[in-house]
Amino acid sequence: MDFIKTYAEQITASLNEALTLDDVIQLIEKPKFEDQGDLAFPCFTLAKQLRNAPAKIAHEVASKINHPFFEKVEANGPYVNCFLNKNLASQMILQSLLQVGNDYGSLDTGKGKTITIDFSSPNIAKPFSMGHLRSTVIGNALALIAEKCGYKAVRINHLGDWGTQFGKLIVAYNHWGHEEKVKNEPIKELLSLYVKFHEKAETDPSLEDEARMWFKRLEEGDIEAQNLWKWFRDESLHEFTKIYSLLGVHFDSYHGEAFYNNKMDKTIQLISNKGLLTPSEGAQVVELKEFDFPPCLIMKKDGASLYATRDLTAALYRKETYQFEKALYVVGQEQSLHFKQIFLVLEKMGYSWAKEMIHIPFGFILKDGKKMSTRKGKVVLLEEVIIEAIQMAKKNIEEKNPNLLKKEEVANIVGVGAIIFHDLKNERQNNIEFSLEDMLKFEGTTGPYVQYTHARACSILRKANFNSLNTDPIGLNDDYSWPIVKLLMQFPAVIEKSFEYFEPSIIAKYLLDISKEFNKYYSHVKILSNEAGIESRLALVKSTTIILKEGLRLLGLKAPEEM
Ligand code: ARG
Repeated sequence: MDFIKTYAEQITASLNEALTLDDVIQLIEKPKFEDQGDLAFPCFTLAKQLRNAPAKIAHEVASKINHPFFEKVEANGPYVNCFLNKNLASQMILQSLLQVGNDYGSLDTGKGKTITIDFSSPNIAKPFSMGHLRSTVIGNALALIAEKCGYKAVRINHLGDWGTQFGKLIVAYNHWGHEEKVKNEPIKELLSLYVKFHEKAETDPSLEDEARMWFKRLEEGDIEAQNLWKWFRDESLHEFTKIYSLLGVHFDSYHGEAFYNNKMDKTIQLISNKGLLTPSEGAQVVELKEFDFPPCLIMKKDGASLYATRDLTAALYRKETYQFEKALYVVGQEQSLHFKQIFLVLEKMGYSWAKEMIHIPFGFILKDGKKMSTRKGKVVLLEEVIIEAIQMAKKNIEEKNPNLLKKEEVANIVGVGAIIFHDLKNERQNNIEFSLEDMLKFEGTTGPYVQYTHARACSILRKANFNSLNTDPIGLNDDYSWPIVKLLMQFPAVIEKSFEYFEPSIIAKYLLDISKEFNKYYSHVKILSNEAGIESRLALVKSTTIILKEGLRLLGLKAPEEM
């Protein structure tokens, strides 16, 4: 049921194979305006090749095409415009959607191969920042989209659970900490200890020495230091898990930076064996001059290893453990240089798979045009933001649908969905302005709007007692259903493209388009009237719910049937 392919085949045949089928498929476009049909084939390339006028060629091609899939094929200047047979196209798409359900659009690009996705990766004892939220939401969507494309996704949380901040934290805890407080509100308390440390250290530099000493003790395996570290880690992780469960995100591995402590000597040895380790002002680096990059720092003067060394070790470990085909790192764009260096070092080490490692950067979340900061105590705690979104969603629901049964549950789904969708509807490299009011609107380009459209469609199906098993849709050819039918046909291509560019926004925008067209349909067409074609109209409604729900799922949102 591939209209584009059929069109391309017809064109290729009409040209006596002057172009290959693939060339033709590549050239076929979607026209901007409705009067230009559904598919267009531009004749410029061909004109050059055949040394003939494009319009003349277009005319000739158009006259030769005749196929039941197409209502009309006509030349329009240098283009061959094709109008699909609406009845046939809609019937076929509706039948296939009712049949395969939410499996529609599943691809086999991945062929079951593994893709590791390093995302979220917050730092222990520091708050979960807006950047970590973006990473979590984008990474989760990419994992779901990868699975839809036939990959096995391994979700890895590379926790920032090691580093000099632990020395500072231990000092602060020993001086000013309370066990109960840490237990009750770990992130808040650990953060305020961390902030206090910095305040005090401004006037008392001896605290920094003390912190260095504690971190050294920790690295050397001192029991007291280790126990505190482990406790801080457990408490923080427990808090993070609460956020993940609110967001509906899970991980296959929580191996963070500390996990690689005893594995890094081997990495350094390996780099050294390959003759890549160069001394530089007392430290050890891998030179990347030939790529015009600054050297990658492998070992500091004092022998301490670095963020980069851990990431190199993690990459080797993951390749060995998961045999990944691709490895994604969903991390803010401020770390672009770091990842370029890591990938180049692996390449220099002779690992061809380094080419399949991809950094997926994203922009900042802004509040009133400024970067939302989590430093210096002026933090917005994410859990509080999510809870506020849920409460606002609940208020909206109370107003709109006071009799709704599972209000709490729906408010959760809508509040969380609003935050996720607000992030994902933007191209990930762009910065996002954070506004709870905007993201929770039931109208406009929001998650709740798409969810609401889905619920509205579900309610029609409930009213009609629709059962897809007993339905055999005929075609639809009215003006309001056609844009929806065309969008439904595009779903597999939309998924493919969003994976190709690692860009969930392509799916988000697509869902907004469908919602818009569906709401137009809803207000102009009497879906439940006795006029002929009710089965097909309901099949269209059902198909829309399938795509909206599945599309939302791929972004990490749920779609309640009532709201
Ligand atoms: N913990 C780091 C941070 O918050 C992000 C880690 C990203 N992942 C990685 N493999 N380096 O900045």
